[in-house]
Amino acid sequence: MTEKLIIFDTTLRDGEQSPGASMTRDEKLRIARQLERLKVDVIEAGFAASSNGDFEAVELIANNIKDSTICSLSRANDRDIARAAQALKGANRARIHTFIATSPLHMEKKLRMTPEQVLEQAKQAVRYARNLVEDVEFSPEDGYRSDVDFLCRVIEAVIAEGATTINVPDTVGYAIPELYGNFIKTLRERVPNSDKAVWSVHCHNDLGMAVANSLAGVKIGGARQVECTINGLGERAGNCSLEEVVMAVKTRQDYFGLTMGVDTRHILAASRMVSQTTGFVVQPNKAVVGANAFAHASGIHQDGVLKARDTYEIMRAEDVGWSANKIVLGKLSGRNAFKQRLQELGVQMESESDINAAFSRFKELADRKSEIFDEDILALVSEESITHDNEKYCFVSLSQHSETGERPQASIVFTVDGTEVLGAAEGNGPVDASLKAIEVHAKSGAEMVLYSVNAISGSTESQGEVTVRLQNSGRVVNGVGADPDIVVASAKAYLSALNKLCSKSDRVAAQG
Ligand code: KIV
Ligand code: ZN
Repeated sequence: MTEKLIIFDTTLRDGEQSPGASMTRDEKLRIARQLERLKVDVIEAGFAASSNGDFEAVELIANNIKDSTICSLSRANDRDIARAAQALKGANRARIHTFIATSPLHMEKKLRMTPEQVLEQAKQAVRYARNLVEDVEFSPEDGYRSDVDFLCRVIEAVIAEGATTINVPDTVGYAIPELYGNFIKTLRERVPNSDKAVWSVHCHNDLGMAVANSLAGVKIGGARQVECTINGLGERAGNCSLEEVVMAVKTRQDYFGLTMGVDTRHILAASRMVSQTTGFVVQPNKAVVGANAFAHASGIHQDGVLKARDTYEIMRAEDVGWSANKIVLGKLSGRNAFKQRLQELGVQMESESDINAAFSRFKELADRKSEIFDEDILALVSEESITHDNEKYCFVSLSQHSETGERPQASIVFTVDGTEVLGAAEGNGPVDASLKAIEVHAKSGAEMVLYSVNAISGSTESQGEVTVRLQNSGRVVNGVGADPDIVVASAKAYLSALNKLCSKSDRVAAQG
């Protein structure tokens, strides 16, 4: 019988640790629903003890997602573990993931603990967690840079305490595939009772090898769980990318010989959703989900693909969610065609009234733009579900004037706690003027650390998708807005970022 590879998604925990990628509770639930559709085995929903916001997000996901195991990270102490267990109470299947650093550098400089103290704390943590839930994962943080003899002692001890998964992180992305694969193999061979736990890999991408290292951990090391994130989202250079690792194992089934539960047709929608929610744009040449991943520009390639697809294509675009149906929607498209396209794109709406609301926005857009592409629909439904009536700031309308030789001016109407206000300002350009007009009332004092515009479907007829990243009092948030008018998209993105800044949540860092 072929063995299964467990896909553990940590977009909502490790991915969210990426500066600027913080998500609201509702955004996290939306992504969790998409991960459930994707049929990932485990969703690491957050780090419950790190903030009230994270606790609530883990709890919400545990109460609503029923097909995947829901996991919360926790440091190796009773308070964190109890908090994780409490947040996970409503889950069908709950996992507590507890960690403590084991490398000499981390133990001495960060934890200021002796190896014996770390060993004792790891044992106690797993013992306590096992009293609360059946499924306990243990991670020796910075495991790859740890002393192998010490690591074997720690892992042996936590397996004896009941850890069901042993995850070996390359926390700083220092590993090389062959070395990491052999490291996992050595640990599995040397630790008594290693077969009592599932072995897992968790690789960061600082040297661009997170996927290669994870695959080596599977192939050489015998790991049967991979920790990964959608689009490789994560701190610094990110984590192992889910779409790449999953498609590598699927496409090269001949080499890996493993099965997975993932329904790969939902990959693209997940990628778009994470990118739109966080504002982390996917590069066009990104494997699997980049706009060019299946585009054949050279004449020789096009000719080959037309004669036989597998001359230049190793995967089928449809298998990862690129629509085979090239019919673009427009203003004559009806509700049924719209609904069907939503289904093809893997977008599930909660109710008929949500579909109606999305459809009326689709119609508004179709009045202004003759062809509506899949990317437009995904942007539209994404905005639909992240815009709430109860937000502090809501966009109403905007007008702006710019003329060569004159300083651009903008006036904007938006609501503040339900009351309409009008702001007017001048700026270096129409976008600058519009955002200054918002600040006349908002007075946020926030610093803009990123502003980017991306044409959703490539032409000047396209909708512009704008990301604004704001920083205030140590918090970094992203706002995203889409509209055929990029000045309007910018204003929407700015207001969305301000809304996020208003929802305060201070959290403890996992690698703090
Ligand atoms: O990279 C890492 O070490 C982690 C642990 C907390 C598992 O994310
Ligand atoms: Zn990590």
